[in-house]
Amino acid sequence: MELIFATHNVHKAEEVRAILGSNYHIKSLHEIGCPDIPETADTLKGNALQKAQYVFDHYHVNCFADDTGLEVEALDGRPGVYSARYAGEGCTYQDNVLKMLEEMRGVTNRKASFKTIIALILDGKQYFFEGRVDGEILTEQRGSDGFGYDPIFKPLGFRQTYAEMSAMSKNTISHRARAMQQLKTFLMEYTK
Ligand code: IMP
Repeated sequence: MELIFATHNVHKAEEVRAILGSNYHIKSLHEIGCPDIPETADTLKGNALQKAQYVFDHYHVNCFADDTGLEVEALDGRPGVYSARYAGEGCTYQDNVLKMLEEMRGVTNRKASFKTIIALILDGKQYFFEGRVDGEILTEQRGSDGFGYDPIFKPLGFRQTYAEMSAMSKNTISHRARAMQQLKTFLMEYTK
């Protein structure tokens, strides 16, 4: 089965190919010549659907898209859907990490969770999948692998931050991997 994954991120596309396996032919946006798609919704689900719907409307193909946010309990769920631009438009991953450490300085409730929502449009119908990992925001950065908030996020039940794990370990337990696994289970049932 061929599916378009509405992303320009080659790492994400590779991660998804590894999880879904060879029964699924995954093409990313640049392979179909699709430009960047705006993300203007105020929820993860809304953004994921916006991207999948754009591809469906323009290319009439089976497709899916994801959106991820870091929800911090002491910040009433912020930055959530705004995780990429938490420190402002055009900010770097490091800007976001430093802003989070600053905003969380002295805060004792460090609970946070990463959430990924996938929107799938298959034969014209919409389906949603969610992957979530609970953890905590550390008081300083640890590790240099990964991206985004990885150096300050330690998943529950693990000693290492995401940034201290190998890519393979992180990709086995991550929020995105969990959502992708759900997508895979659904597709396997659907195509049986
Ligand atoms: P996206 O929806 O996957 O583009 O994610 C939005 C933002 O959430 C990214 O720009 C990162 O700041 C953050 N993020 C998403 N996934 C991860 C992750 O696996 N580790 C750390 N940060 C992440």
